[in-house]
Amino acid sequence: MSENILVTGGAGFIGIHTSLLLIEKGFNVTIIDSLVNSSIKSIERLKKHIVENKSLSSNQLKFQKGDVRDINFLKTVFAQAQDSDNPLSSVIHLAGLKSVSDSIKFPNLYWDINFCGTLQLLNVMQEFNCKKFVFSSSATVYSFNVESPLFESSIIEPFNPYGKTKFAVENFLQDLKNKPNDSWKFISLRYFNPIGAHPSGNFGESPSNKPNNLFPRICNVGSGKEKKLLIYGKDWPTFDGTCVRDYIHIMDLAEGHIAALDYINKETKKSFFVSINLGRGMGISILELVRTFEQVNNIKINFEFIDKRAGDKGVVFADCSKAKEILDWQPKRNLSQMCQDGWQWQIKNPNGY
Ligand code: UD1
Repeated sequence: MSENILVTGGAGFIGIHTSLLLIEKGFNVTIIDSLVNSSIKSIERLKKHIVENKSLSSNQLKFQKGDVRDINFLKTVFAQAQDSDNPLSSVIHLAGLKSVSDSIKFPNLYWDINFCGTLQLLNVMQEFNCKKFVFSSSATVYSFNVESPLFESSIIEPFNPYGKTKFAVENFLQDLKNKPNDSWKFISLRYFNPIGAHPSGNFGESPSNKPNNLFPRICNVGSGKEKKLLIYGKDWPTFDGTCVRDYIHIMDLAEGHIAALDYINKETKKSFFVSINLGRGMGISILELVRTFEQVNNIKINFEFIDKRAGDKGVVFADCSKAKEILDWQPKRNLSQMCQDGWQWQIKNPNGY
């Protein structure tokens, strides 16, 4: 029987694209999600996609609603998989909160879900002897003062509670890896800025609240939901004065998770922890992104400059050579594809799922 992969937070933007790809690669996938920041409709879409695709089987997907902080729920999920003779072999852990500004307002909640939830999950994994773990970390762990490109070896010094919870988990994974007479296999993926959508236009980003991130806001302006894009600052030390980020197509990011799982399965070392940047290794300014979006989608995006956003940094992009070397993974899709696919999703689903 195929490997059974637990994807926590699998109903969210990254989770649904990763689960879809896992299923298409022949894995069985068990998704758990509390749905606090995602919708059951993404799961329903995935089920529909499986039914419509003759090469896939509905047995490949299981979904259970629940919270990673609920130890009894986690134990039930692992026990049920074991009892059905398809024990969970690996975990891709995406469940967590991700708003930097909320993390400053609600640090307890962020530590509880992002750190305590992960600790709980690892405890249950230990109990069921499931020791392969892909973790969703973030570029936010790097020091504010380090210049891009950011390498995995660059100074780590998160400056907001969200980033601190991610780094705390990475530290914990290191300690587990060093535990005598045990064998844990960990990959921590440090995401840069995932945007775009599945090329079918059936899966994409569907924030429950008003989005804070740039790309969904560009889409909102394109569709008329918002009148203007407000660009935070025009005198950043960049070639056109707007902030530079490392945008990566969501499908490339999803493929990065499959590559991480492949690596974990092939690597013969008894215990390891590897951190890997997932970006495109290319800095793109806000104006470049807006212009590309306008060009490929033939649509006008009105914008206006306002004051800088607190806590922002002028230039953030990755060095992605470690991902290529270790995972044999490289992003394949360019900025035009990100803009095109993201907009298709928006047109087909004006109100999200
Ligand atoms: C943010 C988070 C980061 C998280 C990432 C992806 C902060 C400080 N960082 O990164 O932890 O991993 O999202 O979820 O919040 N911008 C505008 N107008 C807008 C929105 C954004 O000009 O309406 C600018 C921002 O100033 C920034 C760029 O667009 O320069 C990208 O912003 P965003 O999409 O929020 O991503 P990050 O700030 O890179």
